[in-house]
Amino acid sequence: MDTRFMKAGVFVTALGLALAPVTQIYAASPDPVAAEHGMVVTAQHLASEVGVEVLKSGGNAVDAAVAVGYALAVVYPTAGNIGGGGFMTIRLKDGKTTFLDFRERAPLAATKTMYLDDQGNIVKGRSTNGYLAVGVPGSVAGFEMAREKYGTKSREELIGPAIRFARDGFVLDQGDIASLQNGTKKLSTDPAAAAIFLKADAKPYAIGETLVQADLAATLAAISDKGSDAFYKGPIADAIVKASGAGGGVLAKADFEQYKVRELEPVKCNYRGYDIVSSPPPSSGGVIICEILNILENYPLGYLGYGSAETVHAMIEAMRYAYVDRNASLGDPDFVDNPVSKLLDKKYAKDIRDKISPYKAGVSKELTPKGFGESTETTHYSIVDDEGNAVAVTYTLNGSFGAGVVAAGTGILLNNEMDDFTSKPGVPNLYGLVQGEANAIQPKKTPLSSMSPTIISKDGKPFMVIGSPGGARIITITLEAIINVIDHGMDIQEAIDAPRIHHQWLPDRVYMEPYALSGDTMKILTEMGHNVGIDQDWTIWGQAAGILVGGKSLGEITKGGGARYNGAMDSRSGSGSARGY
Ligand code: DON
Repeated sequence: MDTRFMKAGVFVTALGLALAPVTQIYAASPDPVAAEHGMVVTAQHLASEVGVEVLKSGGNAVDAAVAVGYALAVVYPTAGNIGGGGFMTIRLKDGKTTFLDFRERAPLAATKTMYLDDQGNIVKGRSTNGYLAVGVPGSVAGFEMAREKYGTKSREELIGPAIRFARDGFVLDQGDIASLQNGTKKLSTDPAAAAIFLKADAKPYAIGETLVQADLAATLAAISDKGSDAFYKGPIADAIVKASGAGGGVLAKADFEQYKVRELEPVKCNYRGYDIVSSPPPSSGGVIICEILNILENYPLGYLGYGSAETVHAMIEAMRYAYVDRNASLGDPDFVDNPVSKLLDKKYAKDIRDKISPYKAGVSKELTPKGFGESTETTHYSIVDDEGNAVAVTYTLNGSFGAGVVAAGTGILLNNEMDDFTSKPGVPNLYGLVQGEANAIQPKKTPLSSMSPTIISKDGKPFMVIGSPGGARIITITLEAIINVIDHGMDIQEAIDAPRIHHQWLPDRVYMEPYALSGDTMKILTEMGHNVGIDQDWTIWGQAAGILVGGKSLGEITKGGGARYNGAMDSRSGSGSARGY
């Protein structure tokens, strides 16, 4: 309804009829969930409840993040995990920020050409299915370091809910079933995985049935008793190494024994007065979000409008340039010298802006640097506690259900994160990313990620917590949620739900979700030379999870009087929810 028709809190329709004010009337999405003391937004409602209970019982946002991480490993097996890895961005109530990198590392026996045949061609499936695809998992070490350093609660308290879900089972709803169905084919090829995720007669589970994971319950109980050594130094690692050997993998006990979490300085930038804190290498996420925002800062996106040809053209070109940098120059900081300060420099952004024609699409091939020759799932959750500590976590098995293998007796689904490396320069990976030498495979190296757990503050106070799954699209999904809030004035739910566009340099295409662009906009963009279309092969655009502090939208925050915490789980999500108290 047009706001011109709103008079003294009463809506007057064109026919002169007075209607009681209904706040939802303006929203293209449901209202965000409002709460005053804490907010937890995750891709599975049971995990959101676990997080809220931890907060209610006096735990801080890091405690809740750890409990949610373990819980999702049980109730969201497509991406929640203890057999994969991820990132945690933390902003403490005093404004200190930090970043935990608990992503997978390449096994000691990994080689640059391990996914190629004798002729140097990629062997399809080798980097995505089975044990050769598995990187050394980091989630348990990551959660335990987070808990020990920044949490307040005991291991038992934080792992307890996950153990109960695994041991007693949980009732599967429609979203859970949709997610499991996605993996039926993959999981049926591994007897240990099939024994857990398919019924005795190899039939898939149905809505209302209960999924029990007894082996995982025992594994989690061992971690609860003995800490992360139970995972990295004892029988659990032995079982994974044994299964890896039998399944053509190269994981060794030393890989587990040597695993270390890295605590890193997050990437920081400022966009229109908002302080953005996000993931540093080995993620490309924070650097590339900041690079794109720096380029876009000089375009009046709010004035040009959401979905207008001018706004979308500027976004596409900024994405095109930034993804070249991503794919060509970034990698594990222990192995390559990442040009982070150059990519974050506003002057560099200006140089790129100067090259962008206002009238014509760029051509990706012309930007190819010298020497260049996935259904998927990850999950993101966002948490803020009563004291104002904020945590953003994105973690993953990479593909949906990872490599699709479980070492018998452990109940742990293992990742296929090795596919995020450059298997061969110039050849696209699961996400169509064409990458270079900086991300080549080396022992102990971490593959370049796009995961972007992000926390934004304004005037020293937390403003927004945001992130998403979505492979290469994580960066643009997170970016668009930020722009939708800051430039387009959407509330946090609308900002997350709004249809998206994506460009990643190669392939030279503008991907769009249905309804993201009007017919007029598509026509103008096509005339400018953009190759715009709905991606028929890629239906998953990621389920973002966000929190806005002080109001549901910038307008409400400015006016004052909005709820303290406003949580939004992506409407694309099957079983996720925002829960607060
Ligand atoms: O780290 C990365 O960038 C990927 N492994 C993330 C995978 C992902 O988001 C899949 N989910 N949709």
